[in-house]
Amino acid sequence: MRRLPHGYTNHTVGDGTVVDKTYAGPGARQRRARERLVLTRLRGRIPVPPVHRADELTLTLGFVPGVHGQELLDAGHAAAVLSACGAALRRIHIVHLNARTGAEDGRVLVHGDYGPNNVLLDPATFEVTAVLDWEFAHLGDPVEDLAWCEWIVRMHHPAHVGRLENFHAGYGSPAPPWPVRKAAMLARCRALEDFTQRWAPGGDGVRHWRQRITTTASWEE
Ligand SMILES: Nc1ncnc2c1ncn2[C@@H]1O[C@H](COP(=O)(O)OP(=O)(O)O)[C@@H](O)[C@H]1O
Ligand SMILES: [Mg+2]
Repeated sequence: MRRLPHGYTNHTVGDGTVVDKTYAGPGARQRRARERLVLTRLRGRIPVPPVHRADELTLTLGFVPGVHGQELLDAGHAAAVLSACGAALRRIHIVHLNARTGAEDGRVLVHGDYGPNNVLLDPATFEVTAVLDWEFAHLGDPVEDLAWCEWIVRMHHPAHVGRLENFHAGYGSPAPPWPVRKAAMLARCRALEDFTQRWAPGGDGVRHWRQRITTTASWEE
């Protein structure tokens, strides 16, 4: 098994057939349980890896072929990748998990870490082969995922910010107003600052997220 690229929180290894994801950090057990539950419920409805086995801190998943969204984005395919990310996100947000989703409070299944960072695509067709990394999934406002995908592009792929129009076109709705998106980005950054603070109080991760909060707060539409 070799360590898989683009894992940012946990320890994820694979051999081309299966993937072992071992959860690290605060709430590791709950995040593993959450990811397992969502993957099981979404199987056959959204492209997600199959769950083969669940141990206390590890999930064994089927390996899904595809190229990581961030690699394809940097290879010059930003419009196609972001359009596919938008279309896949719409499918996620219209899933009815149980009687509570789609209820009149407007909450949907929020992925919780959505963006080209957690999507694999077929490099020939740009079809999404898998949406990965459901450990932060919850019921919430669709803007959370819309804003976070935008944040990933603004922070890590600033040359492609203009292609976010393809993301919203793929999703099929005009972008929510900028102040609402920016507030959602800042809320998520603060939640991640808090997560790193619980993991290693006063550590590099905390400083990193504080810096990112300052940067995000300075952005204009
Ligand atoms: N089922 C899978 N098939 C193929 N690659 C995977 C699979 N699961 C994870 N990966 C690869 O491992 C990386 C890290 O997995 P992920 O669930 O995103 O963990 P993390 O929470 O650490 O980001 C992914 O970005 C992807 O490149
Ligand atoms: Mg990930």
